[in-house]
This record gives sequence, C-alpha cells and structure tokens, in this order.
Amino acid sequence: MRVLIIGCGYVGLPVGAELSRLGHEVFGLTRSGHSGPALQERGIRPLAGDITRRAELDGLPGPFDWVVNTVSSNKGGLEDYRQIYLEGLRHVLQWLEASPPKKLVHTSSTSVYGQTDGSMVKESSPAEPRSELGQVLLAAERLLLEATLTQKIPAVILRAAGIYGPGRGHLFLQYLKDEARIPGRGERLVNMIHRDDLAACILTALKSGRPGEIYNASDDEPVPQIHFFRWLSETLGKNMPPFVREDEAAPRKRAITNKKVSNRKLRMELGCPLRYPTFRQGYTAEIQRLQDAGEL
Ligand SMILES: NC(=O)c1ccc[n+]([C@@H]2O[C@H](COP(=O)([O-])OP(=O)(O)OC[C@H]3O[C@@H](n4cnc5c(N)ncnc54)[C@H](OP(=O)(O)O)[C@@H]3O)[C@@H](O)[C@H]2O)c1
Repeated sequence: MRVLIIGCGYVGLPVGAELSRLGHEVFGLTRSGHSGPALQERGIRPLAGDITRRAELDGLPGPFDWVVNTVSSNKGGLEDYRQIYLEGLRHVLQWLEASPPKKLVHTSSTSVYGQTDGSMVKESSPAEPRSELGQVLLAAERLLLEATLTQKIPAVILRAAGIYGPGRGHLFLQYLKDEARIPGRGERLVNMIHRDDLAACILTALKSGRPGEIYNASDDEPVPQIHFFRWLSETLGKNMPPFVREDEAAPRKRAITNKKVSNRKLRMELGCPLRYPTFRQGYTAEIQRLQDAGEL
C-alpha cells in the first residue's frame, strides 16, 4: 500500500514506522518538516506542507491507498483548532475526492462526550461536547461521516482518550514536577490510552475498520484521579499531590467531564488487543524507561 500519514507526530510516527516495517510505502506529512530525519530513520518519507493551505496539498505525491489523519493543534486557541481540525480536514477531503483512498483513519477525541455524571459512554451515547474545542472535533467527525456517504471516502473514526506513553501523560508529568493537584475528593474519572496501543488500533482500523464507524479508543480501566495518584505515589515512593477545592483546580483548555469511556466496541468488533490494558502496565513501562535512562 501507498500510505500517507497526515500529522506524522507522536502518534503518527509509530504508525508509519510499523507500516514501513511491514513493507508498505509510507509518506509522513508535517507542517514544519523539522522531524524529517526522525521520520527517515523509521523508513518514512518526509513531506512538508500545511493542510490549512489548500494549494499545498496539490503538491503531494498521491494517490494513496490508505490515509491516516493524526494531525493535531496542541498550541494555539480556538481559531487555530478550527483551522487545523476543520478547515484543514475539509481541504484534505476535497483533495482526496479526485482519487479516494481505500481507507482513511482519523483520530478524534473522547472530549466529544460531555457527560459529567460518571456514567458509561459508548459510541451510541449522546456526543454533546461541553467545550468549543470539543465542538470543533465533533464537526470534523461529521465532515468525515458525510464524506463517507457522499464522496465514497471510506472513513473510520477513533475517539482517543488521553494519550500517554514515552515522554507524555499530562497528570503523570505534573506529578513528577510536583505540580499536580487533586480537585475535591479526587473522584473524577480519567480515561487513557497508551500511544503504542492507539497506534496498533489505527493499523487495525486501516485493515478492518468499517467505513462510517466510530470506535472509542480507550483502555480497559477508567480510573478515579485519586486511585491513579495513589498508585503513582506507592510505586514511586513519593508523596500524594495536595488536595484543592474543585474550583481552585487550574483552568483547562478542555472542559471538565466525568465519564467512563467504554472500549467494548474497539475490543469486540474491531478486535484490537491492548498491550497496556490499564495505566498500571503502561506507566510501569514508562517508569522503567525513565529509570533506565537515569531520568527518574
Ligand atoms: N493528546 C491527547 O491526549 C489526545 C487525546 C485525544 C485525541 N488526540 C488526537 O490524537 C492525534 C495525534 O496527536 P499527537 O499527540 O500525535 O499530535 P502531535 O505529536 O502534536 O503531532 C501533530 C502533527 O501534526 C502536524 N501538523 C500540525 N498542524 C499541521 C498542518 N496545518 N498541516 C500539516 N501538518 C500539521 C505536526 O507537524 P509539526 O510538528 O511540523 O507542527 C505534527 O507532525 C490528534 O488527532 C489529536 O487531536 C490527542
């Protein structure tokens, strides 16, 4: 297969590396091109281009059999978000119209679920995002579902939970820097997925994801914050973070939600095995990595 990874960053790079290892011809698009050597090292042909500029897509060496969209706007405000996730995606879909891929896999986010009552959310649960950012992600999903119906671009959507792995993991990094705080009694649930498991799910979705379907990509155990920090504290022999009132917690870009994300469909229908079924396995590996590197 000729594969294009749009946004070949933290998640896209291991996806591309594995596809290349399996013998596919893989191209990785980034905006800056700074990561070119890292991509080449993993067998990925680097391309630089900005999907928010429609004309730049015409220069890409298509057509492609598979397209993965893991583009992300980590910095910037709502307008950047809209430009990248929505307008950028619109451009990609327009550009693909001329020669549609056999499959397009897109990473969305579980932040499209606005539930705050700790309930279980599955793909058929209402997706009513509480944040404007979540609304942008939901609008992007709708564009893809529409394209699947009308343009025959077979898109599969993975709604990823909080991604962690080598060098990443918001709460963990805050904890290591002594900047973590536990709001209220720490009962709010956190849903996570290890980067390598998400990458494996993307590969499975390319091969066997059903077009027009949405799958939650989360691990087996939504965990209350307090349990997460207690495990870290016991594992690392380090104090628990201080408790603060709910309203004292640092303002966040994403709205505060409280839900258990079900991965049943990912597990049973898509058949994704998880190497790190809970944060315990994933963070045991990350702690080991940091200790081996002398960073912990
Ligand atoms: N972080 C989380 O916990 C989380 C949770 C749920 C879902 N997700 C989703 O997971 C996916 C993967 O995220 P990630 O952590 O791998 O992101 P990342 O490491 O920040 O990588 C994003 C990539 O997108 C590229 N990019 C950004 N703007 C672009 C543009 N306008 N045109 C072309 N390329 C552009 C970046 O290139 P440069 O490096 O050159 O800028 C980079 O290669 C994203 O869809 C994200 O929304 C993340």
